[in-house]
Amino acid sequence: MYLITLIPGDGIGPEVMDAALYVLEALNLEIDYQKASAGNTCFNTLGTTIPEETIEMARNADATLFGAVTTVPGQKSAIITLRKVMNLYANLRPIKSLPGVKSIYTDLDFLIIRENSEGLYSGKEKYIMGGNGATAIRVITRNASENICKFAFEQAIKKGKNKVTAVHKANVLPKTDGIFKKAFCKVADGYPGIEAEEMYVDAAAMSLVTQPHHFQVLVTTNLFGDILSDEAAGLVGGLGMVPSANIGDENGLFEPVHGSAPDIAGQGIANPTAMILSVSLMLQYFEEYQESLKLESALYNVLEDKKVLTPDLGGTSSTKKMAVEVRKKLQEC
Ligand code: NAI
Ligand code: MG
Repeated sequence: MYLITLIPGDGIGPEVMDAALYVLEALNLEIDYQKASAGNTCFNTLGTTIPEETIEMARNADATLFGAVTTVPGQKSAIITLRKVMNLYANLRPIKSLPGVKSIYTDLDFLIIRENSEGLYSGKEKYIMGGNGATAIRVITRNASENICKFAFEQAIKKGKNKVTAVHKANVLPKTDGIFKKAFCKVADGYPGIEAEEMYVDAAAMSLVTQPHHFQVLVTTNLFGDILSDEAAGLVGGLGMVPSANIGDENGLFEPVHGSAPDIAGQGIANPTAMILSVSLMLQYFEEYQESLKLESALYNVLEDKKVLTPDLGGTSSTKKMAVEVRKKLQEC
């Protein structure tokens, strides 16, 4: 029996969450759910974007499913707060071409692993010069760098990959990225069977476009990982397609890479793919590999059939209809 905290959030968050749960319910698993709030609607009713109660519910669960939230200017980011307070230090974003989906590359399958707890997202920003300038502190520690590099090599083993590429800019940031680079080399020494490679972030950004097949597992610091993973999402069909996992030593939080999409919210046409694949990542985290495979192949069948797709995929169906079709395929498996 798994306990899962649901944080649907705002905009299309609750829409894709409902769709993914409808599919998840058809799997052979015993799950207890508890619902928690965060984001913009939560702020309007409770005066906070991320209530203490939500944090506690996420902490107490085996895993959390997170839809998406609308940013409230000047307020704490719900997702960044959760990653920090739950010490979800690893952000895993699989970049995988999906069958039948129009995309720049149709045969990609690699992992981007982003350090999730520090870097330029440490929240240490301040105004200087009487408000005419500002600084942001980029925190890089040996401990967090070693943790994320170790996570990357372990994922390589798990997923049958034989190369890990560390992406940094140690030539111009010799202290911060120097620590990250050293940590990577130290961790790599413990994995002699896996090739360890380094690449500067600017060169990596270009290589992702020109020769993405070069990558198997890419590990990097927080901001670089955020940017490169959105870039890579563009290679496989865009934000509606890419899931992510936030993993710590105690539990995990799973979410689509996309946001609350206010431009299409309320119309029931959001693509549920990224959320369904996030559920699949959660199942892999639970080591429910059989159920995860079943879920993915049902989704792939629907994508390949091209009969029941949301508008962003070239179809005319609703989010709900696409979920119903995935569940139907699941039951046929
Ligand atoms: P977004 O990802 O919400 O939308 C970007 C574009 O992609 C839009 O045109 C949207 O319609 C489309 N899109 C996204 N997901 C889709 C899906 N599942 N199906 C079909 N189309 C989809 O990014 P945007 O517009 O920059 O941000 C909107 C809000 O979401 C902002 O308040 C932003 O701060 C927040 N945000 C929240 C995130 C989170 O909760 N983890 C992540 C990114 C943004
Ligand atoms: Mg992002």
